[in-house]
Amino acid sequence: MTKPLPIIIDTDPGQDDAVAILLALASPELEVLGITAVAGNVPLALTEINARRICELAGRPDIRVFAGAARPILRPLKTAEHVHGQTGLDGPVWPEPKMPLQKQHAVDFIVDTLMTHEAGIITLCVLGPMTNIALALIREPKIASRIKRIVAMGGGYFEGGNITPAAEFNIYVDPHAARVVFEAGIPITLVPLDCTHQALSTAARIEKFRGIKNKSGPAIAAMLSFSERFDEQKYGTDGAPLHDPCVMAWLLKPELFQSRDVNVGIECESELTMGATVVDWWRVTKRKPNTTVCRSINAQGFFDLLTGRIAGLP
Ligand code: RIB
Ligand code: CA
Repeated sequence: MTKPLPIIIDTDPGQDDAVAILLALASPELEVLGITAVAGNVPLALTEINARRICELAGRPDIRVFAGAARPILRPLKTAEHVHGQTGLDGPVWPEPKMPLQKQHAVDFIVDTLMTHEAGIITLCVLGPMTNIALALIREPKIASRIKRIVAMGGGYFEGGNITPAAEFNIYVDPHAARVVFEAGIPITLVPLDCTHQALSTAARIEKFRGIKNKSGPAIAAMLSFSERFDEQKYGTDGAPLHDPCVMAWLLKPELFQSRDVNVGIECESELTMGATVVDWWRVTKRKPNTTVCRSINAQGFFDLLTGRIAGLP
């Protein structure tokens, strides 16, 4: 077997972040160097605790969890308790985590890890607002050329937005951070709503998780049964989009996705379209392609991968 791919997961758990982290911890192809929490779905004080809860659910109290930015670079923090509940992980009853939070700031962990590891081998999996990543790039610009790739869930083009008509939540919360990241010249894969809206956690798929004979399967069923209700009502669909695990799935089975290398810019001026990802899908401008944008996913193949891997957890 080839050496596992070293990754850092930057996240704002969030039920879908939880499934993404569990998928990563269940996949020997990936080596989780650390998990960095950021404010997003719920405030940082909760996202860092939730990250530790998820590691303990997976039987991995050895994973190092770091707390990062408590608010976006410029704009006030906007959270999403209406989707994720007051704890950010509503659904199951969670014990208080026993594993420690690391003392080092998440931004320093990201910089130090990239500066001390061989250049070009670490992938950043970005599942929330990009504040930590942007701050790391500002703190130490040299890391830009040392990052193998950023694979991020965020943005939307054909599907519009989910927090405003124009913007997807992760980008909307910190559009300035997203702009720093997209303009840094780093290889980026973006998994936007155009793709994740095809990955619906239908009732049948949730039952599949519930039937897995371990702790993680039923916990995922309980999490998704809670977090899906808002989107089911909004979209009138059987099941809600399962956003963040698509990032890990792209690393594990990229053949599940169709994508195109195009230019992506971030709207940071107009309040009407703040945080919009302006995707030059038809290449009508001369702007250089800076992103591999995923347009579609083999949804059943994604859920088969997911349930198969989750079944391997304790
Ligand atoms: O818009 C969906 C994204 O926003 C997901 O990452 C979800 O966890 C929230 O952070
Ligand atoms: Ca997230």
